[in-house]
Amino acid sequence: AGIWAVVPAAGRGTRFGGSRPKQYLEVAGQPVLAHALDALLAHPRVAGAMVALAADDGDWPGWTGRLGKPVLRCIGGGERADSVLAGLRALPAELGDDTLVLVHDAARPNLALGDLDRLIEAAEAHADGAILAAPVRDTLKRAYDAARIATTEPREQLWRAFTPQAFRRGPLILALETARAAGIAVTDEAMAMERQGARPALVEGREDNFKVTTPADLDRFRFILSRRGA
Ligand code: CTP
Ligand code: MG
Repeated sequence: AGIWAVVPAAGRGTRFGGSRPKQYLEVAGQPVLAHALDALLAHPRVAGAMVALAADDGDWPGWTGRLGKPVLRCIGGGERADSVLAGLRALPAELGDDTLVLVHDAARPNLALGDLDRLIEAAEAHADGAILAAPVRDTLKRAYDAARIATTEPREQLWRAFTPQAFRRGPLILALETARAAGIAVTDEAMAMERQGARPALVEGREDNFKVTTPADLDRFRFILSRRGA
């Protein structure tokens, strides 16, 4: 069965600043969102994508498909989790609860096909789903006030969560609805699933699958693409 991507793209990019939301800024002639979508749709197993947009989005280019696959859209919500939930609900009705869904940030344009392939393989092998992530490399400091070190924290068991995050549609909808009803702000899909008792798999991914948060991140992506083209 086909796998679908759900892409939350309803954020305003307040930390980035700028004239329009960061997912619409162009690099190498395409908006960041297009790079993210095409990275997902390039995988032969991915059948289509659902993009969650802000209700007042004025930048959507009106795509109905990319790379020969359908691109659908819906209205997102006030928090990232609300946008993801809206996207999951808006998927075509004929897709059942067992459909494998890849949730991927619109602002994460540098996803490698190899990482996506290993993620899909892991998600199909683990009942509780899987996410791309990377081990923490830096020494970790805890500070309670101002910028003064209180303690150094062990990093051995710590990972940084990336996207895509791959789960079955039905259980993920239930997990996100449950967290919302409890008033818990979940910052990724795995966190919602963990609250349900799931133990999603960590798939070590490339460090350059970063989220564009500030202008320096966009420069980094531009640099990566210029090197690739050279
Ligand atoms: N997102 C969304 N709906 C929201 C908030 C965020 O779909 N209500 C999306 C963003 O568009 C982005 C992804 O979730 O693709 C990750 O969010 P983040 O990096 O925080 O983007 P923004 O919320 O736009 O940025 P900021 O927090 O700086 O305002
Ligand atoms: Mg945000």
